[in-house]
Amino acid sequence: MHCKGNSLYANASMEDRSFMGKDLLGIRHVKKENIEKILMKAGSYKQADLEKKIPSPLLQGKTVVNLFFEPSTRTRMSFEKAAANLGGTVMNFDRLTSSVQKGETLVDTVKTIESLGVEGIILRHSLAGAPQVAGRAVKIPVINGGDGCHEHPTQALLDIFTIHERKGGTAGLKVLFVGDVLHSRVARSNLWGLLKLGAEVTVVGPLTLLPPGLKEMGVKVSTDLDSCLEEAEVIYMLRLQMERQKRGYFPSIGEYKKYFGLTGERVKRISPFAVIMHPGPVVPGIEMDQSVMEDSRCLVQEQVKNGVFVRMAVLELWIAGEVN
Ligand code: CP
Repeated sequence: MHCKGNSLYANASMEDRSFMGKDLLGIRHVKKENIEKILMKAGSYKQADLEKKIPSPLLQGKTVVNLFFEPSTRTRMSFEKAAANLGGTVMNFDRLTSSVQKGETLVDTVKTIESLGVEGIILRHSLAGAPQVAGRAVKIPVINGGDGCHEHPTQALLDIFTIHERKGGTAGLKVLFVGDVLHSRVARSNLWGLLKLGAEVTVVGPLTLLPPGLKEMGVKVSTDLDSCLEEAEVIYMLRLQMERQKRGYFPSIGEYKKYFGLTGERVKRISPFAVIMHPGPVVPGIEMDQSVMEDSRCLVQEQVKNGVFVRMAVLELWIAGEVN
């Protein structure tokens, strides 16, 4: 599949959502052809936006709830924008003023939201598996907006969309993930997706931040960033997930940056055709220097922009379609 230009939009027709399942819980169990269909739809939305066309109001009369138990800027707001672009209504859940403070369980919360008559839930939660639990409790679709260290499917979809757009495809593409893979739901979803789409994926980081099982998945593993940089076509820097790190995984931030930070010096050695990505938020001066953020090869803001189109595609497929 090629996501550049018009070829992206061929065959971007309405889908049978039952083919995809009621919930979008992760990329691991989404078939390659379905990933490609989502990317094609996202491409249609991006092209329409470039042509200043107003999308069909597929969510008119429908409401989705952003049920976020963890902080978010990009995911929450881009789902909001995506739903608004499709004519839908979004309700934002506020954990701190909700009855969760009085002991309400996740299952009770999602059942309550369903009883309000909404059409779907976007769920972010610190516990891996929370979207599965929620999805089983309700008949309406649940979209995983990031669960613990498990998956962040719409982030991976927007990343893969951005890679396709810039590199013309993923088959055989050399993609390097750098840093805290152990705690990264973004890395996990991307690995599943990119491997399905034929990319050659390498991860590099301190051994303490690399989970077991990577080699078995078909991922190359390294602890030496400098030896991986030159051949990488996509360099994907991961955020240090300090909020999930339970112990000292490396001696100091300075030490981490010395070996795994994308500094201005290191960027001098990457290919002029390589692209640099990060899911955001970037921790300034740790994962990458400010000068790297400003490099024309850095796609951080393009990723955010594409997130809206990808989430429009997801909302169309999972929320606007016929109920399974
Ligand atoms: N990339 C990402 O998930 O960002 P937010 O936490 O701001 O949603």
